[in-house]
Amino acid sequence: MHKPHITPTNEEKIMDQNDFIVSKTDTKGIITYCNQIFMDMAGYKEDELIRVNHNLIRHPDMPQVAFKLAWDLIQSGKEFFGFVKNLQKNGGFYWVFAHITPDYDPNGNIIGYTSVRRKPPREVLPTIDGLYKQLRDAEAQGGMKASGELLMQFLEDNNTTYDELVLSLQGDR
Ligand SMILES: Cc1cc2nc3c(=O)[nH]c(=O)nc-3n(C[C@H](O)[C@H](O)[C@H](O)COP(=O)(O)O)c2cc1C
Repeated sequence: MHKPHITPTNEEKIMDQNDFIVSKTDTKGIITYCNQIFMDMAGYKEDELIRVNHNLIRHPDMPQVAFKLAWDLIQSGKEFFGFVKNLQKNGGFYWVFAHITPDYDPNGNIIGYTSVRRKPPREVLPTIDGLYKQLRDAEAQGGMKASGELLMQFLEDNNTTYDELVLSLQGDR
């Protein structure tokens, strides 16, 4: 299905503290399930989401390298944690802290993925926003090779790993 063009606006919708946004996809990232909170936050009805590629809500402010990291991890059977800015149907946006995990059949084959998202702490969003902007700029210049190197350099400079960084930013609240 063709992805609709949506013009992004600066209108932000903030997640509720106790909410979980849940969706499931097949192995290609096609949505097979979403909960009511997903529909409320993204602004779509169920039949506009099921069987549609999850990149429907991809926000242009997100660096591509974030999704490459996510897919590399989950396709190799690992979990992914990350902050994601998502695009609503009306052009607005919402920030989430996502945890994506693979779903297995009884034989151990990956048959799809599940993402559960919580509200990120407000105070870390400017840091994430700034880092993502740098990564996007690097991508515009030198593609994902450049943004991948920049991310590795950022982690090295801060003497941390990706998981350590995102888990410490999300915190224990
Ligand atoms: C279970 C699952 C949930 C996902 N959730 C999101 C999401 O909320 N927002 C998003 O932009 N991409 C999400 N993705 C990643 C998309 O599949 C896609 O890689 C991303 O939107 C970039 O799309 P593009 O490469 O076509 O630009 C998810 C992927 C999986 C497997």
